[in-house]
Amino acid sequence: MKGVKVDQINDNYQVATDLKKPILDSNQLLVKPIFGAVNPVDELMRKTGLLVTSWPWTPCCDVAGVIVEIGSEVTKFKVGDRVFGCQGVGFPGSGGAAEYCVFREDIAFKKPDNVSFAEAATIGVGCQTAALGLWSGLNIALPDPQNLPALSDEWVLVLGGGGSVGGYAVQLSKLSGYKVIASVSARSVGAAVAQGADETIDYKTPVDEQVAKIKEITKGKLHRIIDTTSFNADFVKKVLEEIKDDAGEKYFASVNDWEDFGPLPGDAKFYPISLGPLGRPEARELNEVLSKFTTIIQALVDAGKVTPSEYSLVGGIGFEGFIEAVKVQSSGSAKKVVAQLQEE
Ligand SMILES: NC(=O)c1ccc[n+]([C@@H]2O[C@H](COP(=O)([O-])OP(=O)(O)OC[C@H]3O[C@@H](n4cnc5c(N)ncnc54)[C@H](OP(=O)(O)O)[C@@H]3O)[C@@H](O)[C@H]2O)c1
Repeated sequence: MKGVKVDQINDNYQVATDLKKPILDSNQLLVKPIFGAVNPVDELMRKTGLLVTSWPWTPCCDVAGVIVEIGSEVTKFKVGDRVFGCQGVGFPGSGGAAEYCVFREDIAFKKPDNVSFAEAATIGVGCQTAALGLWSGLNIALPDPQNLPALSDEWVLVLGGGGSVGGYAVQLSKLSGYKVIASVSARSVGAAVAQGADETIDYKTPVDEQVAKIKEITKGKLHRIIDTTSFNADFVKKVLEEIKDDAGEKYFASVNDWEDFGPLPGDAKFYPISLGPLGRPEARELNEVLSKFTTIIQALVDAGKVTPSEYSLVGGIGFEGFIEAVKVQSSGSAKKVVAQLQEE
């Protein structure tokens, strides 16, 4: 089949016609990707081979597409359904920049009519990662989409609230009943506020000023911090030092799942967010957790309570467009970068 491939570590992306068409397991869906969004992990995998189980490898782990075939045990979906989400990375069949890829029934989202294909492609990785951080990492109770909790006076500090994971962390924190401070640069203040941030701090200002502002806003009461950028461990330690006289359990979740931060001030509990193994048969526990989150996120998207990221559409229709989109994302786009891979 046709699609994008990288032959080995650090090779260039190329469009080729000799990709292997995925073979479907009984619990899987064969999907024709229509739109794909770029994530930082695409370039990371190409350059380092991280999470790649075999080469050639096909990028694109945020897909929105149409089901063309279903496995023998699939009950929730049928051929022709429109689906979206992240289904995993690095293993055969997971790459969305191809004529076909596979979805697992238990972690696939059905695209509602109120969300376009391009918008749907922006939701998966960002929202699933944010959900793991908040609901598994920060001891935040799963909200009931039919009966969302009232806003409490507890805060979540979302570091990197201007990015994709950060934006969904802002939205899900609010929907879970928490007030949010988002750290952003000037270009992302509007986006963070539009997604529900109550307050913003500029991460480019002096650290002491930021910490003082957090202390003032929270009145010294802060128990939950999520770093959606991986750069902020020292900053988090400083915040925890300054707010250490506040009683109660403290939680810190980070997308940086490879560093050992040692004991944290205030005995804060650390949760390394790790979406990478998603979709692999051996990641049973992660798949089960994400399956539970899928039901909740699906209901919130259907109800228009979780809204897709703003995005830039790059390139024409075709797999070359995804290669172009990766370049735009890598240059530091403020918005999610999306490409149309095929006609519906
Ligand atoms: N561990 C996992 O399972 C997992 C899963 C998904 C993603 N990730 C990682 O999470 C990171 C974010 O992914 P993403 O898709 O959200 O990327 P993204 O959409 O490109 O967002 C990155 C954002 O980081 C912000 N930023 C940069 N330096 C910052 C700092 N010092 N403090 C606060 N914000 C800062 C920028 O915000 P401004 O626009 O405001 O300048 C930028 O918008 C990436 O490194 C990705 O690889 C990890």
